[in-house]
Amino acid sequence: MDQLALKAIERIAGQARAPYHCIAVDRLTPIIGAEVSGVDLSQPLSDEQLAEVRRAFLENHVLVFRDQHLTVEQHKAFGRLFGELRALPVEDIDGDDPELVVIRANAQSRFVAGETWHTDGTADLEPSMGSMLYVKETPAIGTGGDTLFANMHLAVEMLSPTMQQFLGELTAIHDGEIPWKGFQPPANLPKTEHPVVVRHPETGRKTLFVNSGFTSHIVQLSGGESQMLLNMLFDLIAREPILSCRVRWAPNTLVFWDNRCTQHHAVWDYFPHSRYGERVTILGKQPKS
Ligand code: SIN
Repeated sequence: MDQLALKAIERIAGQARAPYHCIAVDRLTPIIGAEVSGVDLSQPLSDEQLAEVRRAFLENHVLVFRDQHLTVEQHKAFGRLFGELRALPVEDIDGDDPELVVIRANAQSRFVAGETWHTDGTADLEPSMGSMLYVKETPAIGTGGDTLFANMHLAVEMLSPTMQQFLGELTAIHDGEIPWKGFQPPANLPKTEHPVVVRHPETGRKTLFVNSGFTSHIVQLSGGESQMLLNMLFDLIAREPILSCRVRWAPNTLVFWDNRCTQHHAVWDYFPHSRYGERVTILGKQPKS
C-alpha cells in the first residue's frame, strides 16, 4: 500500500473519539461501521441517547442495531428523527406504504436490489441522507445475504492531491434508468448532475460522489476519458478491502447508513433461499462541493 493510503488510514482510524455514556458502540473496522447496543428503537429515545446515536452515525457512517422488535410505525418513527421520509410513487411500491421499500429475494427472484456498489437515490436532485434497512428474514441456509459498506471519505483521501484537485473540478450525471438495464423502466426516472467530489453537509469532509449503480458519465470529459476515469474510481472501491466493512444480518437487525459518504453492495449468495427486509429512506439536500 502506498504512503498516501497509509497516511489517510492513520488519520481516519486514529481520530480521537469521546466516550459514550448512554449507548455502547463497538467498531466493526477502524474505518467504517459500528454495532450499537443499549438502545431499544421501539421506545422513544432520550435526548442524550439520540445525541449519542447521531454522533456515532457521523463517526462510523454505518450503525448496526441488533435484536430490535419494531412495527412499521416504530421503524418509520426512528427514521423521522433524522428527517422526512422519501415516498415512492404509488406505481412503484410493493405493498401499500409509499414510504416503505420492500427488499425481497426468493427462489423466484431473477435479480435482487442493490447487487452492485451504489448509493441509494443519487439520481435525485436531493439524494437521500440515509437509509434504514430492517431485515426480518435471513436465508434459511443459516448464512449469506451480507451487505458490504464502503467509506467514500477514505476513497478520496487515498488519491493523490493532483487527482483530488482534478476530480474537484468535475461533475457527473446520475441516471435513474441505469439499474433498469434489460428491463422496462418506470416513467419519469430522475437524471441529475452532481459534483464528483462533494462535502458532507454535517462534517464538511470531502467524499467521493460517483457510483457504478447510477453514474453514467463525467460531463467535462470525452466518452472514453469519462469511462476510464469512472472505471478507475469504481475499481478502487471494488478492489480495496480496507474501504469496507461487511454486515452479517440476523433477523430483527436494523442498519442505518449514511448515503452522503458511503456506498453499499448487497451479496446475493443464498439463491434459492429467501431474505426479506423493509427499508425507509430519509430525504437529504442537494450535494455541494
Ligand atoms: C439496498 O441497496 O438498499 C439493499 C441492501 C441489502 O439488501 O442489503
